[in-house]
Amino acid sequence: MHTLFKHQLLVLSLIWLSIGVFAQKQNVIRPGDIWPDEDGKHIQAHGGGIIKIGKTYYWYGEERSKGLDTNYRYVSCYSSKDLMNWKFRGDVVKMSDPENLGRRWVLERPKVFYNKRTKKYVMYFHLDNSTYKFARVGIAVSDKPDGQFTYVKSFRPLGHESRDIGQFIDDDGTAYLVFEDRPFGFRIARLADDYMDVEKEMTLVKAHMEGGAIVHYQGLYYSIGSALTGWKANPNKYSTAPTLEGPWTEFKDIAPPETNTYGSQSTMLIKVVGKKTTTIIFMADVWKPGTQWDSRYIWMPLKIGEGKLWVPEPKPWTLNIKTGEWKYVQENAGEQKKNN
Ligand code: GAL
Repeated sequence: MHTLFKHQLLVLSLIWLSIGVFAQKQNVIRPGDIWPDEDGKHIQAHGGGIIKIGKTYYWYGEERSKGLDTNYRYVSCYSSKDLMNWKFRGDVVKMSDPENLGRRWVLERPKVFYNKRTKKYVMYFHLDNSTYKFARVGIAVSDKPDGQFTYVKSFRPLGHESRDIGQFIDDDGTAYLVFEDRPFGFRIARLADDYMDVEKEMTLVKAHMEGGAIVHYQGLYYSIGSALTGWKANPNKYSTAPTLEGPWTEFKDIAPPETNTYGSQSTMLIKVVGKKTTTIIFMADVWKPGTQWDSRYIWMPLKIGEGKLWVPEPKPWTLNIKTGEWKYVQENAGEQKKNN
């Protein structure tokens, strides 16, 4: 081999290696950018949900990679100990149309609950046909967090239509499903003991909202949702209540309305309780309907308290999972460009 060529090859492989190393450790969350997992691939966990088992967080979401077999719907699973570095654990669902819903059937917004009594991981998801008329939840279960999940059944929670779903686990461990019941608003309902059913309605919030998410913070419940504009971003809003039953306050903006929630849609609120402080993360999707695999995420720590909630302007930030503290990170132009 020509020495010059050899030299070029060496330089190239060194660059390749350093990109790989970089992709493996990142102590920064860059809202709206490509978010590489530990293999350097953009995280595919859209409309997702997160649970914590021991010290490990699991992130489940819609797997929308390019080139997937369109006969199936996929749910991915990632794990992390710090919420910044994520390891792909595989597609825990690869399902073909379980209820004969026809071409372009829909499996969206998967949320996994861990049941301590049965030791089962119970996944809820929005199951629908192409016109969104089926309006049910589906359930799949697994003995392990990283699958495989087996389909069990579909139903309308407490007999109601259900489209976008959200998950909420209260500080006392009680599990709730948030679901959009289009004719009326959105409902928050408690799961049955074994999580295999929805048992008791806590409230019907009479606001037409989806992407519903809830957090319990300093004695108040905060709920967030988006308007019904599909994948087009809109100004998301919040409301508070002293108990899940309500009364819920009027909805107010969570960000400057002209930004349409910085182009994102709410998915979940993550509560990080550290030794020094508690940080609530707003977890949202930046949908790209034409290039779904390239859909991004906006995660931002909230300004929250005393009935007020606000998403600060999205900029790179870092989280200390032990103390619960977060701060903005200054990055040079090169780093920013690489991830756009
Ligand atoms: C959004 C919803 C998403 C997806 C999308 C399809 O309103 O939140 O989960 O269903 O519509 O248009």
